[in-house]
Amino acid sequence: MRTQVGIVGAGPAGLLLALMLQRDGIDCVVLESRSRDYVESRVRAGVLEQGTVDLMAELGAVDRLRRESMPDARLDVRFSGGIITMDLPALTPGKIVTVYGQQEVVKDLIATRLDRGGAILFEAEAARLSGVNYVRPVVHFRYKGRDETLECDIIAGCDGFHGICRGAIPEQVLTVYDRIYPFGWLGILSESTPFAEMSYSNHEHGFALASRRSPRISRLYVQCPADDDPAQWPDNRIWEELHLRLYDRGGELDEGRIFQKDVIPVRAFVAAPMHHGRLFLAGDAAHIVPPTGAKGLNLAAADVRVLARALAEFFRTGSVARLERYSDTCLKRVWKVVRYSNYMTSLLHRFETHSPFERRVQQAELEYLLNSMPARTTIAENYVGLPFEED
Ligand code: APR
Ligand code: PHB
Repeated sequence: MRTQVGIVGAGPAGLLLALMLQRDGIDCVVLESRSRDYVESRVRAGVLEQGTVDLMAELGAVDRLRRESMPDARLDVRFSGGIITMDLPALTPGKIVTVYGQQEVVKDLIATRLDRGGAILFEAEAARLSGVNYVRPVVHFRYKGRDETLECDIIAGCDGFHGICRGAIPEQVLTVYDRIYPFGWLGILSESTPFAEMSYSNHEHGFALASRRSPRISRLYVQCPADDDPAQWPDNRIWEELHLRLYDRGGELDEGRIFQKDVIPVRAFVAAPMHHGRLFLAGDAAHIVPPTGAKGLNLAAADVRVLARALAEFFRTGSVARLERYSDTCLKRVWKVVRYSNYMTSLLHRFETHSPFERRVQQAELEYLLNSMPARTTIAENYVGLPFEED
């Protein structure tokens, strides 16, 4: 097989890129190791910045999102001293976020790509890349029991954190920045009326978060040990911790049937540069951020927006100038988002290693936010999404 851009991975990064390239008349093939059903049902985060929604709209993949998503104009942070309320349009000004599950985004993008006759090969697992330093790099993949090759001009490594593309960049040119936090999140989906507001909480038992997926489905999280198994969390223990950590004064938290439980890691990771030869990494393949910022998907969308523009220039004019700037352009945003996600993680979690001094400083930061509009503004402007800088 031969194409202009070989895209490895059908997550948000790979699918958004495929639609942008298709719009620009550039041929591409998406290889995805999992089945369609698997990628469409994988539960992930659910907060979209306006820039991400705008991109879905530009690509004509926004109809269901407009009908079913939930606009969110407020963010609350609860702690022992009260509730810090961030009125997003007042602080940003005029901006809000959109609550819509990542798997719904993925479903919409897959449907749009297939409707337009674009290629996505499911259960096609990339095994290795070759020739990334040459003009015809190749993706070697396994499909329907056979070894196949996809010859390309450019490879887009959109294969997530555990993918194989990042490994094709020689170790000596790659710098990895990593922080593993000493806890995870237990996440549940339940058939219960959600909190009225997106509510993060700092409690002495640990962090909690009340989010939602629909007017009748809650998405709730509690901080837990990183190596916990969901089986260690019977339903009654989860509800007990949620009531306590969310400072429920009675009747706020609706206990419904829990139909999904998972434990997710909390870590930050950045690999730089995001480009080597004819290979370009985007999304989780290059970086992951702790979930406290709700930024993973939005950052993936920001990367491929830059990549699509650079590829359009390359295929139109032959110029590699924008492609050469791709990594630097993306990493500027990535580090700002890492900073914000790290800040929110440090602000809201209980760290067993914290000294009494560090606990007091964390508490003082929360008290400061409660009474300072400029401090709340810095959270709000990051939460709704930083503006895109021209490259
Ligand atoms: N060959 C083909 N596909 C692969 C391979 C491989 N060797 N390895 C991984 N993949 C696929 C995965 O199955 C997955 O569907 O690549 C896809 C990567 O998608 P994501 O992990 O969703 O990553 P990305 O598109 O960068 O989106 C980032 O996802 O992890 C969340 O919170 C994160 O919201 C963020 C978003
Ligand atoms: C979610 O809805 O899953 C969610 C919301 C906010 C976060 C993380 C996850 O920070």
